[in-house]
Amino acid sequence: MHYDKNWAKIDPLSVPDMKVPAPGPRSKELHKRAEKYMKGYSSQVKLFPVAFESGHGVTLTDADGNKYIDFSSGIYVTNLGHCHPKVVEYLQKYTAQLMNCHDFTTEIKALFLEKLASVTPANLNGIQMYCAGCESVEAAMRAARGITGKYEFFSFYGDFHGKTMSAVSVTQVADSTTGPRATGMHLAPNGHCYHCAFDKKYPECGLFCVKALEKQIQMEGTDNVAAILMEPIQGWGGSIVYPDDYLPAIRQLCDRLGILLIVDEVLTCCARTGKMWCVDNYGVIPDIIVMGKGLANGFPTTAFAIREEMTEVLEKISASTSYGGNPMAAAAGLASLEVIEEENIVERSASLGAYIMKKLHKMQEDHKIIGEVRGKGCLLGIELVKDTDTREPFFEAGKRVYQVAFSKGLAWIPANNNLRMSPPLIMEEEIAEKALEIIDESITIVEKEFGY
Ligand SMILES: Cc1ncc(COP(=O)(O)O)c(C=O)c1O
Repeated sequence: MHYDKNWAKIDPLSVPDMKVPAPGPRSKELHKRAEKYMKGYSSQVKLFPVAFESGHGVTLTDADGNKYIDFSSGIYVTNLGHCHPKVVEYLQKYTAQLMNCHDFTTEIKALFLEKLASVTPANLNGIQMYCAGCESVEAAMRAARGITGKYEFFSFYGDFHGKTMSAVSVTQVADSTTGPRATGMHLAPNGHCYHCAFDKKYPECGLFCVKALEKQIQMEGTDNVAAILMEPIQGWGGSIVYPDDYLPAIRQLCDRLGILLIVDEVLTCCARTGKMWCVDNYGVIPDIIVMGKGLANGFPTTAFAIREEMTEVLEKISASTSYGGNPMAAAAGLASLEVIEEENIVERSASLGAYIMKKLHKMQEDHKIIGEVRGKGCLLGIELVKDTDTREPFFEAGKRVYQVAFSKGLAWIPANNNLRMSPPLIMEEEIAEKALEIIDESITIVEKEFGY
């Protein structure tokens, strides 16, 4: 398929374009109608209840005609830009041809699986397809139980793995985990150096947290630990990037203890962190990798891939679901993987991310309430604190900066006192620069509001 590779290019002067104060009257009316029935919106929506009408490349347009720069990609999903022409074309073809045939093989499914297996790390070629990230996380956990015959899992403080019942048991986020965790699910302190649970300093600590984890597994586990399940960079936790030797140390720990390593790349996969897989940044090969979000650029498509020598057990864990691996999902997935290759998306993510990171470091020097800026590739974050010495989280400022920037035309993602940035990986530097100017101005406004 031929399409203009500059399809998403826009004049930097054309964005943002706020025609009426947002959320405008049409947004308010639509949101009120939806909210009457739809309960439990995310904080991303509650703090700025706008209604969207369309998306094109790196912009979003709301119901009142306001045009925003997209620094969210939905929620780390539309990595290739909204409505990428190749993804649209593949999807349209299969939407008109065959929407569902349970888990029977189709040509498009065979093509997608071949393509995916060609880009997964090492020999992680045993694949099952699902729709939601949490489904694939749970399926990976079932696989780990089947392979090891064990049922306990360790995950980390701040981890998010989804909202189904086992996924919340390996998740820390408070509102998803009301009530006790499922039996055998343990949370451990992680290698988050800015808020080290052990009050240590990296690298002098010698990764004390990994030694503590080993102890915890020995003391709390009951010789029934199947796997460590982790995000390689935490998303919802606040764009938490671990030191370079952390993941390799966890891999070694798993090998030493004879347990599996499941890396949840639902959020970090498919070039988001400047490599095809986040684990590629650290030279680590997990036993199971879980993927979603950017895998099909918006069509609900997720999967997990497992080492070839472990695939036997998958035959006993039927992958069939009503929608997993349907022709539309396979088509959107294949188109996305092809675009990642054809448009050098991995390199573009690394280069755009490095550009933004440099600007964020400069921004940090100019603002008293920025505690830390962090990220890898185009998975980026700013942590706001009341005081850079005490590192006390500045929750109120987090909300306000998010709202002020949104009202100026920047669609992005809050997480308490953390501001999360996830631009489409096709964004030009000039557009990112405008987004960063909005953030800079918004932090200045909020600092003044709070008397800094
Ligand atoms: C790391 C990670 N795992 C799993 C999930 C769950 O995915 P889904 O919302 O598609 O169920 C998410 C969602 O944000 C995620 O970030």
